[in-house]
Amino acid sequence: ARQQHIRNFSIVAHIDHGKSTIADRILEATHSVTEREMQNQLLDTMDLERERGITIKMNAVEVHYKAEDGETYIFHLVDTPGHVDFSYEVSRALAAADGAILVVDAAQGVEAQTLANVYLALENDLEILPLINKIDLPAADPEKVRQEIEDVIGLDASSAVLASAKMGIGIPELLEQIVQKFPAPEGDLEAPLQALIFDSSYDAYKGVILTIRVKNGIVKPGDKVRFMHSGAEYEVTEVGVHSPYSVKRDYLMAGDVGYLAASIKNIRDARPGDTITMVNKPATEPLAGYKPMTPMVYSGLYPTDNAKYNDLRDALEKLQLNDASLEFTPETSQALGFGFRTGFLGLLHMDVIQERLEREFDMDLITTAPSVTYHAFTTDGQMVEVENPSELPDVGAIKSIEEPYVHAQIMVPKEYVGAVMELAQRKRGEFDTMDYLDDHRVYVKYYMPLSEIIFDFFDKLKSSTRGYASLDYELAGYRQSDLMKIDILLNGEKVDALSFIVHRDFAQERGRLITAKLKEIIPRRNFEIPVQAAIGSKIISRSTIKAYRKDVTSKIHTGDPDRRAKLLDKQKRGKARMKSVGTVDVPQEAFMAVLKTG
Ligand code: GTP
Repeated sequence: ARQQHIRNFSIVAHIDHGKSTIADRILEATHSVTEREMQNQLLDTMDLERERGITIKMNAVEVHYKAEDGETYIFHLVDTPGHVDFSYEVSRALAAADGAILVVDAAQGVEAQTLANVYLALENDLEILPLINKIDLPAADPEKVRQEIEDVIGLDASSAVLASAKMGIGIPELLEQIVQKFPAPEGDLEAPLQALIFDSSYDAYKGVILTIRVKNGIVKPGDKVRFMHSGAEYEVTEVGVHSPYSVKRDYLMAGDVGYLAASIKNIRDARPGDTITMVNKPATEPLAGYKPMTPMVYSGLYPTDNAKYNDLRDALEKLQLNDASLEFTPETSQALGFGFRTGFLGLLHMDVIQERLEREFDMDLITTAPSVTYHAFTTDGQMVEVENPSELPDVGAIKSIEEPYVHAQIMVPKEYVGAVMELAQRKRGEFDTMDYLDDHRVYVKYYMPLSEIIFDFFDKLKSSTRGYASLDYELAGYRQSDLMKIDILLNGEKVDALSFIVHRDFAQERGRLITAKLKEIIPRRNFEIPVQAAIGSKIISRSTIKAYRKDVTSKIHTGDPDRRAKLLDKQKRGKARMKSVGTVDVPQEAFMAVLKTG
């Protein structure tokens, strides 16, 4: 009977349409937090999320709602990120839910990731409840958006909730619709335990803490459980729910979403996607897990202090627990020493991981420019997967190179279609289709090299459409391209960590831009430093960092002690993100310079 009163659901939307604010309002309306505890974007617990105003991690909470029918319902709500880089989090959250609230901005309408997330929800057989948010905005046009949801998505929006999360409008109706429209979880209390792990985190005292959705059976402290994929066995020490702070429970049963701890020390024993069952009474089959996520870009992560290599490995292992899409393997660079080649879902993801390593684990890092994975076919018939440009075989040994392509879907008002097409063409895009969604919006699709889209395509797309275009993409296989590697030499020495791969058409220009850029970034020494770009043994461009003449430390001889301290501090911090390569000091910025030459 308790099961009949449970509703498991998620909230999905295009970025910034207001998911997190809706979640806040639900917590408030169900009195799950006191007014004093209430702060905006309560579920965005990471400092980084608050500062950037984005959701990076999903979060699962339990709240209690007294409905108009007089009954009290238990809601398990999973907030999810909206940015394309974090779609992995969305798909995992959806596997734990039975319904999804689809939030659409009343002024922006349906956007590329609105569609992408709806498809994910439909794949997971979720009931979808449309909500049109931000009706308080002067530019809001809820009726038009309602029509758009019906036309573009094909979803019945006649009873869509009209809401303003900001003003608290529409929230009571939303809560009632959740009770009426979303199904209660199915699942057999008597059946052998099957619980899906969909997230995890690490606690120094309790070990690995798993977020689970129990599909069948019951689990309680003292139970001996087995992880069906890893085969590991543990005794459960604690179960509970987040509401939103951790609350211990006597048991979790079929239909519940909550956490489980079992003094798990080895993070490999309990990966998201695995199924937990009982040792004594095991289920015959694990639940369907998740598609493993392939990283889109790779970059090298190196501690500025080589002695911190093991600390970096520990930190990456702990982060991986909290972010199953993170991948890393050891690599060595002549210039940078020992580090890790690390895979990310996109540049925002890379940024976030780097910042979390620095803040949560106190690491000082050098990150090399991100690169996609190339396939190099050698003359002796081998295929080499190249995640690190410096590992591309010699020109003479290569027969051909393939690079990953994506299918890019862009939604844009018709007056900007020209600008979008011009940009896509410039980024080596191949036109696929163009459809009118209604009389003013167009859905344009292109095949494009992933390397072009991942770097600054999104920013350029936004700036050339005054922010109106939205983008979604998925991998679409490998294609042969006329690619070559550019090496960078500092003071005559090749710096492997600065090598990059470009299309022949852009090689000359990129070589020129990068040598000019490095000249600005690399600090002067008391001798001249030549900066060269080379293809094989051929130098294609060169700049020179002049020797300095005057004493640069004289700047510090300033009377104001405050200013002096600040300057020193700035220099100290600058130094931390610097690596000596031979006789040259190379700052972090130099490794990213190649991104700024696209
Ligand atoms: P991500 O977590 O980054 O995916 O974004 P989100 O979809 O969770 O959006 P969020 O709740 O962070 O809201 C985005 C912005 O819209 C914030 O500045 C909110 O204050 C604002 N916002 C949310 N709801 C409303 C609303 O009903 N009206 C108005 N005017 N602004 C709103």
